[in-house]
Amino acid sequence: MNDTIAIIDYGSQYTQLIARRIRELNVYSIIIPHDFQESYVDFNSIKGIILSGGPSSVYDELSPKLNKNIFAYDIPVLGVCYGLQLLIKNFNGNVKSGSIGEYGPSDIFIENDSKLFINVPHKTNVWMSHGDRIDKMPKDWIITSNSDNKVISSVENKEGTVYGVQFHPEVVHTKEGKQIIKNFVVNICSAGQNWNSKNFINSTIQNIRNTVKDSKVLCALSGGVDSTVVSTLMKKAIGDNAICVFIDHGLLRKNEAQEVVDMFNNSLDLGINLYDRSKVFLDKLENITDPEEKRRIIGLLFIEEFEKITSNYGKIDFLAQGTLYPDIIESGGYGGSAKTIKSHHNVGGLPEKMDLKLIEPVKELFKDEVRKIGNDLDIPEQFIKRHPFPGPGLAIRIMGKITKERLDILRESDSIFMDILKQTGEYDKIWQAFCVLLPIRTVGVMGDNRTYDYVICLRMVTSLDGMTADWYNLPDDVLKLCSSRIVNEVNGVNRVVLDITSKPPGTIEWE
Ligand code: XMP
Repeated sequence: MNDTIAIIDYGSQYTQLIARRIRELNVYSIIIPHDFQESYVDFNSIKGIILSGGPSSVYDELSPKLNKNIFAYDIPVLGVCYGLQLLIKNFNGNVKSGSIGEYGPSDIFIENDSKLFINVPHKTNVWMSHGDRIDKMPKDWIITSNSDNKVISSVENKEGTVYGVQFHPEVVHTKEGKQIIKNFVVNICSAGQNWNSKNFINSTIQNIRNTVKDSKVLCALSGGVDSTVVSTLMKKAIGDNAICVFIDHGLLRKNEAQEVVDMFNNSLDLGINLYDRSKVFLDKLENITDPEEKRRIIGLLFIEEFEKITSNYGKIDFLAQGTLYPDIIESGGYGGSAKTIKSHHNVGGLPEKMDLKLIEPVKELFKDEVRKIGNDLDIPEQFIKRHPFPGPGLAIRIMGKITKERLDILRESDSIFMDILKQTGEYDKIWQAFCVLLPIRTVGVMGDNRTYDYVICLRMVTSLDGMTADWYNLPDDVLKLCSSRIVNEVNGVNRVVLDITSKPPGTIEWE
């Protein structure tokens, strides 16, 4: 097991960034909710704990609390902003609501030799974002820096096992942030910097062999990079005992099933088996309008169909899926009370009782990390660069009822949109782009005739890992081309609109 740094999440918008900064140091990191259950976390591999920031005030009755059991494991702890204030309160210091907060850049002056500030100059610029501040230090704790606004900006206990910073070392605006995180992770926690994609591939192949032994594994392919990487790892680990299947659930994009099968057969030696189950899925989804209900039905049907398919291949014990880390976080993992934003079909939508045992080799990785693994596995670029496509497919891009007419309209619109993005060289600049069909009709005029047709929305985002995203600003002339081609070429559409919402507050998909 890799040396791991655990980040306990108190709700900061920057928590993901802490995890990424640590992984950039080739040290494995996990994010766990503040109300995690200890049995869900393997403390043997954890070399350090970081308490994230958060929007609350530590004295609010409903504010998230510190789980004091973390100190029993004798591992270094670093509190960031709200995390620092939790530590101060816990060790009997005091935090007060500052009459003026500090938001944005600030200079700090390092007052004491601290392992946290090795190779950091005496004066350095940091990013602050807080209202509350330390008022009284815990007994025997040391102030290691102050800000130019006379705010205590970092502290530690005498033993050098518990640290706190009022600023955010994880954001790029903190000049020496990377060095400070490295000092904590590498110098203070002594975490080994050996988490890289080559090691990941080797240890994952070994783990698969140990888990699966002589059993057969059904590898569910979607055409996306995650399941392609998983299936390639499976093939490398267990050869012909990995059986790759691709289910057409009738919710794919135009010509997608055949294109994916051809792509796999021409460039990757996975031996893919295509099953057309569109009728089963579309029948069950008839008249369903609730997004979570759609997701639940699709998740259950996938498993039912996989279980039926296994009978064609003798006894199959495992189902391999390309679940990613954000799927786990957003579907509420680690037994905490994190809200389920969406039940990603390969996590939240599974039946309680399943004959197949799940195996999810990339479930601890972010998307860009999976892409890196894909490169190291020599998977062709056309797979790696494909935009993500959700398991529930077009079902969650048609608001409301899913009908054949709506599917056809969405497929045609989406296909034109993709053509234009590829032809204009925009596709590779965008993390994910797609069309959404709105279930309303609006009045238009074409030629001399009145029309009363559907609305298509264009959605394009940039992102690193799908956890946060910005809308992509497509050049005006390309937007115009999309709008005129879709309205002119797709029967049933007379209006095209653009989604300019980032995530948060929106999500990337509309359902
Ligand atoms: P959201 O809409 O949650 O999407 O911001 C984040 C990323 O996840 C994809 N997505 C899914 N992928 N099964 C998947 O395999 C799902 O149920 C699912 N829901 C969303 C989405 O396309 C985006 O890339």
